[in-house]
Amino acid sequence: MENQKEEKVNFRRSLIVPSVQQLANQQSITKIPDRYVQKLDHHDSSVVSSDNPLTIPSVPVIDLHNLTANTSTYSSELNKLHMASKEWGFFQVINHGISESLLEDFKREVFKLFSLSMEEKKKLWQDEDNPEGFGQLFVVSNDQKLDWSDMFYIATHPNNLKKSQVFQKLPLSLREKLEAYCAEAKKLAVTILDHMGKALGMETREMSELFEDGFQSMRMNYYPPCPEPELVVGISPHSDADALTILYQLTQTDGLQIRKDGKWVTVKPLPNALVVNVGDIMEIVSNGVYKSVLHRGMVNVDNERLSVATFYNNSAGTEVGPAKSLVVQHKVANFRAVPLEEYLKGYFAKKLDGKSYLDYMKLGESKGDTSQI
Ligand code: OGA
Ligand code: NI
Repeated sequence: MENQKEEKVNFRRSLIVPSVQQLANQQSITKIPDRYVQKLDHHDSSVVSSDNPLTIPSVPVIDLHNLTANTSTYSSELNKLHMASKEWGFFQVINHGISESLLEDFKREVFKLFSLSMEEKKKLWQDEDNPEGFGQLFVVSNDQKLDWSDMFYIATHPNNLKKSQVFQKLPLSLREKLEAYCAEAKKLAVTILDHMGKALGMETREMSELFEDGFQSMRMNYYPPCPEPELVVGISPHSDADALTILYQLTQTDGLQIRKDGKWVTVKPLPNALVVNVGDIMEIVSNGVYKSVLHRGMVNVDNERLSVATFYNNSAGTEVGPAKSLVVQHKVANFRAVPLEEYLKGYFAKKLDGKSYLDYMKLGESKGDTSQI
């Protein structure tokens, strides 16, 4: 175990790809390059939008304020959180405790980051052995179709951010807001995981031991407008590999869709709410009770869309596997257990491909069950 603690998580980097933002900015662009034209079944007719909440189910909204201990609302809100995590794998949180002013300030800084000139961005591009910076993740071959987006990736905890070369090159005002936001997002993730542990009936210390000093990283997404949106995908269908993702939709533009009962459901941005989703690790820790659900990002003709996904994982040196108290409770382990570093390395080395990595972690009869799709 000691050795694993010291091992640095260093993912294989993705191939370098062009900037979609730069491509989209060319005035003359009316047809998109072939490399961005994706299979049409991503654009099937099963998209539903939650415009009319009476007929179409929308992603549950959890009021974190109602989860304050000893309030009369506690047990019903906890049950709501439990059902949302089981049946949707996604929910939006309000009264999450991250101040409106920090959200606004951070948003402004992220907009500025993506508005830097190409010359400035080049200084912040990914390189041979570091996935941090502008670029793409999960591009493993030159034939692979590309998503209609640019991203900026950075590992934010527990690595000392100030020692990160990419972080040092960022504008000071962004650095300040990024650090503040990450600290708040970590607190929020730990709080929600704690509530999930209670809802699942896990032993109290199990959750905190796994997640008190978790590995946190951040992916900022920029989806430019697209002249042929029906041919592209902003971010390909995937489930997140982490335990819990907090997604901040910076714009009021629709784009995020999640798979629910065989259909794609749009997650409408709610002002001051954050989108939270169960990642593969939490599906594993919950021994399969909670679901890490497929989701994707779509783009449109007129509006750009920006989002920041903050990923929260176990602490270094711990294992990714079903919680021991749940294995006792369920009398079966539905997933294998592997060290966190091995788990993350395996995930980053492959192309984003639905839930197949989670499938690899499955044991016994549950293996091969991709009923989400
Ligand atoms: C992600 C993601 C969705 C979005 O970054 O993992 O799913 O709406 N993003 O940008
Ligand atoms: Ni995602």
